[in-house]
Amino acid sequence: MVVAAPILVLVLVVGLGLNLLAQERSERAARIRADAVSSSAQTILVTALNAETGVRGYAASKDPDFLQPYDRALGQQSSQVQSLQAAAAAASESRQADAIVTSLDVEFSRLDTLRESVSKSSTPSAIDAELQSGKQGMDTLRAQVEILTAGELAVSASRNSSVARLEGSIEAVDVSGLILALLAGLLGILLFTSGITRRLARSVRNAERLGRGERILFQQAGGDEFDGLDRALRGAELQLAQSSREISHSRDETIEALEANRIKNDFMSRTSHELRTPLNAILGFSQLLEMSDLSETDKDSNEQILKAGRHLLALINDVLDLSRIESKEVRLSLEPVSVVSIISEVVDLMHPLAADRGIRIVQRCGAQELAAVADRQRLKQILLNFTSNAIKYNREDGEIGIECHTTDDGSVTISVSDTGHGLSTSDLTKIFSPFERLHAVQSDVEGAGIGLTVSAGLAAAMSGAITVKSKLGEGSTFILQLPRAPDIPADIATPAVASPLERAVPEAGDAKTTVLRVLYIEDNAVNVRLVEKFVSSRPATTMESARLGQQGVELAREHHPDVIFLDLHLPDLTGDEVFEQLRADPRTALIPVVMISADATPASVTRLLSRGVTAYLTKPINLAELDDLLCGLEAALVPGAA
Ligand SMILES: Nc1ncnc2c1ncn2[C@@H]1O[C@H](COP(=O)(O)OP(=O)(O)OP(=O)(O)O)[C@@H](O)[C@H]1O
Ligand SMILES: [Mg+2]
Repeated sequence: MVVAAPILVLVLVVGLGLNLLAQERSERAARIRADAVSSSAQTILVTALNAETGVRGYAASKDPDFLQPYDRALGQQSSQVQSLQAAAAAASESRQADAIVTSLDVEFSRLDTLRESVSKSSTPSAIDAELQSGKQGMDTLRAQVEILTAGELAVSASRNSSVARLEGSIEAVDVSGLILALLAGLLGILLFTSGITRRLARSVRNAERLGRGERILFQQAGGDEFDGLDRALRGAELQLAQSSREISHSRDETIEALEANRIKNDFMSRTSHELRTPLNAILGFSQLLEMSDLSETDKDSNEQILKAGRHLLALINDVLDLSRIESKEVRLSLEPVSVVSIISEVVDLMHPLAADRGIRIVQRCGAQELAAVADRQRLKQILLNFTSNAIKYNREDGEIGIECHTTDDGSVTISVSDTGHGLSTSDLTKIFSPFERLHAVQSDVEGAGIGLTVSAGLAAAMSGAITVKSKLGEGSTFILQLPRAPDIPADIATPAVASPLERAVPEAGDAKTTVLRVLYIEDNAVNVRLVEKFVSSRPATTMESARLGQQGVELAREHHPDVIFLDLHLPDLTGDEVFEQLRADPRTALIPVVMISADATPASVTRLLSRGVTAYLTKPINLAELDDLLCGLEAALVPGAA
């Protein structure tokens, strides 16, 4: 419609114009024909007059020269007659033309007769009669020509005015056609652009609906580009619907998987916790047995119990760590940590194990002050696993290299390489999966296949990463990357660990008894019995216990013990609250408090030490550590007791 309207107008205008043009041409031709008839008739009349004048002159003078016009006229007569007849036939005036031709013929035969008479010297009266007759014939011819000419002139004038009128009309049609075409064009453009705008707006609305997740309004119209756009939007809508169905499906699955994982982590966490309590007792009492006088066989059996217990405890701790890492509940205390000091601690701990197999540990870490942002304990845990692996999976008399570097992107890398059997490319893809032990599963080498999984999780939690390079038969290198911290001055790079005993020793003046009296506030009966049993073997120490926090505070107020051992998680109060109450009461404010807790997180240790706790021991209670502590306290209170 938009394009057709102006074209239709143009066609009409052009049609009308062509029609008028044809009419004008036809009028012009008719006028030319009329002019040709009258012109031919006039020519014939003039020729006849000249011929008559010539013959009359000859008659009067007898001079043959006067006959020249007559002779010429005779020569022209035939062609002029033909011209007249052709023009008259074209103008449908043949009848009148024929009359003129007849009169002309008559006139010429009279003139011929006259000429003959003159040349034969006829009588003057006969010549006069001839002259008279010729004059009449000429008059007749003139009258006929004048009538014909007058008619044709009228026709010509009429055709002429028609031509002029038609020319005017053509001009008017041209101008008005032009204006109309212009208007139609403008209208077309207007309609076209408004149509485009309207349909574009619809496509925009559809795109907006699509963006809001609503159904689009689809109307198939002319199959043009806009429909193409709408079809594309419709396709996108269907695709979107399909994708969102898939996403929602996989989200449901993910939620289910997450939920299942949460339940699994919860279960692992609870189970590990529950397992740790009796294990603490097993380890504690085995330690007690270790100190007692056992036969060689019993000693050996006890050693096996202790070894297996410690292994089990390490495993439980790893499983607990794994569940905490997976549920993102791992608690870290990130701080600048001296890399060299941690490596030294790890080497010290691992050295005996390596020496058993003749393995040399070479530490190539020069920069004393190099520091990483990490949790001290967790960093140590990762490096212990790397190094214990490098020992376990090394060859006899092999070597372990520990190196540290800084990288351009502001990281610190610590690498532990060994000369073991190495790992294949497919092994490398598996070693970080939980409980994956590869070929070690068939060997005597102990392990649960969980160390690297935990290490990788801990590294990620500390914004770091672990990478491995290995060559079968040559060895492996495990690289830990951590964010770098500003360097730690060399003199404080290895913090001097203050002995808890130094803090635990009360003022000598405070010693009022000859026996060290311990109050142990702990709800776990086995732990209490263990410590009780340990203490009972010491003549200079006595112990009483309280199962509840409040009860412990009251006993402390009443009996004023020399030292209080305090658990962090009690049924009625938290260890923090008990400590608060003890510090708030002048009767108990100065009694040293030693925390004994399974919560070994640096955050808890730091928090309580900074609040004034004398020492912090972690469960499972290391009896050797407890022994040191008690010795120190006894030495201060009962000189000579230690
Ligand atoms: N340095 C190494 N050289 C060769 N194989 C290694 C090395 N370190 C680890 N592996 C392989 O990767 C497996 C997983 O190591 P990972 O430390 O996770 O578990 P594990 O040492 O077996 O047990 P644990 O849980 O006590 O650490 C190992 O069982 C061993 O097969
Ligand atoms: Mg390991």
